Amino acid sequence: MANVVVVGAQWGDEGKGKIVDWLSERADVIARFQGGHNAGHTLVIGETVYKLHALPSGVVRGGKLSVIGNGVVLDPWHLVKEIEGIRGQGVEITPETLMIAENTPLILPLHGELDRAREEAANPGAKIGTTGRGIGPAYEDKVGRRSVRVADLGDRATLEARVDRALTHHNALRRGLGIDPIDREALIADLEAISEKILPFAAPVWKVLNEKRKAGKRILFEGAQGALLDIDFGTYPFVTSSNVIAGQAATGVGLGPSAIDYTLGIVKAYTTRVGEGPFPTELTDEDGKRLGERGHEFGTTTGRQRRCGWFDACLVKQTCATSGVNGIALTKLDVLDGFETLKICTGYDLDGTRLDYLPTAADQQARCTPVYEELPGWSQSTEGARSWADLPAEAIKYVRRVEELIECPVALLSTSPERDDTILVTDPFAD
Ligand code: GDP
Ligand code: IMO
Ligand code: MG
Repeated sequence: MANVVVVGAQWGDEGKGKIVDWLSERADVIARFQGGHNAGHTLVIGETVYKLHALPSGVVRGGKLSVIGNGVVLDPWHLVKEIEGIRGQGVEITPETLMIAENTPLILPLHGELDRAREEAANPGAKIGTTGRGIGPAYEDKVGRRSVRVADLGDRATLEARVDRALTHHNALRRGLGIDPIDREALIADLEAISEKILPFAAPVWKVLNEKRKAGKRILFEGAQGALLDIDFGTYPFVTSSNVIAGQAATGVGLGPSAIDYTLGIVKAYTTRVGEGPFPTELTDEDGKRLGERGHEFGTTTGRQRRCGWFDACLVKQTCATSGVNGIALTKLDVLDGFETLKICTGYDLDGTRLDYLPTAADQQARCTPVYEELPGWSQSTEGARSWADLPAEAIKYVRRVEELIECPVALLSTSPERDDTILVTDPFAD
């Protein structure tokens, strides 16, 4: 009855959705614990493609409890639309199958507006390249103690007081930016209208999950983004506004850290990044173009083209450490089919000194050049492989070398977007 945390170990889009969906068969509860609808998780099940943003990737399997934890920031209007869309694909979503923590802070339209206004006003080098969904401003309000939270939707007087608290700050800010102040009455009316659709899902998630845990139920924590976008350990300031690493799973739902038995890092067999910021192994040549084309590297949320590069073992070793990763799911190995040689970054050269981690100082990061080792590629297809025996020897060598360099074993291997094109090496849920 292990509880498993799934975290992205690079810059997001590692294939978390596919792996969470695959693992959710073994779980009773699937819980999101950070981020918001900046996430875009793709599930491919036969002919059907599901794109989930705020909903946990467990929703498509019947008989599971999906949870949106307090560590998330939630846009209620987006969620209602997403639920309608997913219901349209034949998935049943009811208050028995979906719970939202009452202490979850809301993303309001003013957060998205502020996010986009800041990005537009920023000089080219200062743009973060956010998803524009209001994530940063909503988390700022959470720590600024001026959020409207799910529970506030249940009482008109509290709701008004919370909105006033938020608007005291935001209207001052908007005046400075030359944006019209918020129409208080319209915002309250909109929140009251959406509350009817949100409140039926509201629950004391911390209590429900503690009880589930005591009853021996298995909880699967679904991370969004990736550890290199973590607010503390990512490539700051080109990061998201939440803690992404595994430690957040406990605080993001209201369980103690001892509830986490196993952390699975999701790792793409090469590297991608969407948005601005450092990316030591980025390729702007034909190889990079080829990775992007073969991997269909376009963002699930914004449709933006993802930057592509060689596998960076140095960075993944680092993210496995900060999340305490027990094993990884290596995804998109098939995208590397047909390359004559493959490169893996094993460290950096900084002004003549060899480093085995990416330094924190921005000027040093900019001067780091990757140190590569080369491995032979393979010409056979690995697409859809469902056992080690289906893999060419060079592909196995590549996987083994990745394990050695990141000092972490492969627990799962993914060879196509399809749910069942997955090789199980070690079951993260095994006792
Ligand atoms: P997430 O944000 O980590 O859930 O990842 P995304 O869904 O944003 O992006 C991963 C993309 O890769 C999706 O389109 C998946 O369907 C696809 N994908 C996942 N695993 C594999 C794999 O092993 N091979 C290939 N070719 N595609 C995969
Ligand atoms: P999933 O869960 C990849 C990136 C944005 C931007 C930075 C900050 O699908 O892996 P934000 O809107 O969060 O303030 O943007 O973070 N970003 C992601 N990149 N995958 C994601 O989610 C991301 N969520 C945010 O592109 O660089
Ligand atoms: Mg994604």
